[in-house]
Amino acid sequence: MSFLFWKRKDRQQSLYEKIDLKRVPTHVAIIMDGNGRWAKSRNLPRVIGHRAGVEAIKEIVKASSELGVKVLTLYAFSTENWKRPADEVSSLMKLLVEFLRKETKELDDNNVNMRCIGDISKLPVTCQQELHKSFDITSNNTGLILNIALNYGGRAEIVNAVKAISKRVKDGTLKIENIDENTISSFLYTSKLPDPDLIIRPSGELRLSNFLLWQGAYSELWFSNINWPDFDRENYYRAIIDYQKRDRRFGGIKD
Ligand code: FPP
Repeated sequence: MSFLFWKRKDRQQSLYEKIDLKRVPTHVAIIMDGNGRWAKSRNLPRVIGHRAGVEAIKEIVKASSELGVKVLTLYAFSTENWKRPADEVSSLMKLLVEFLRKETKELDDNNVNMRCIGDISKLPVTCQQELHKSFDITSNNTGLILNIALNYGGRAEIVNAVKAISKRVKDGTLKIENIDENTISSFLYTSKLPDPDLIIRPSGELRLSNFLLWQGAYSELWFSNINWPDFDRENYYRAIIDYQKRDRRFGGIKD
């Protein structure tokens, strides 16, 4: 092992020791951005950036399990990503299938429960089949919930919820006066999950890009200039250490 490897391990260890394991965020959500720029800066095709992004996913999933994070939501494909060139969309779908085929066993061995949010009925059939296999295999696992956002958009999710609620009002099973915030939450893809405590966006962009719009109302946001393929434990630990310094008041005041 090289000197640089041990230096890196050393840095990770000293950051890890700064984390209060009793106050780790329950739900971390990540906008995995910057794969294209990572590839471009190395004169490589964009798909190589996405492939490198998958390696970062594996590392962050392991770190999340070790830290005791309960839910990790990863924004992998948005409702707007269909606008990308067809060959990039197809490469992303192939990478997803490859990831599921190669990694489901390890995820299962690590007690990870695979789920997703978004309308997966519009994904290629092979993706849907592999997703359902992974969901079935890992459905009884009690460890980290790995929640992948696929064909997901926060606005589309809210539109769907409004339609479903309107239907219930129309057929008389829900009274307008009984609609509250919990009703709306219960009609979202994330109905059984806690809201994200921490939303991380690498790559230097400072926006939410239609991600968890309702659920992120009180999430702490953490941005970094690192592109997603370079996002490693060190960055993740830094995000969590920073999160633990925040004063979350949810609109109230301190005691
Ligand atoms: C954003 O980077 C990234 C995406 C739109 C795709 C994220 C997908 C992966 C990391 C791999 C596939 C996913 C799974 C779950 C196996 P960008 O392409 O917008 O980067 P850029 O802004 O630098 O162009």
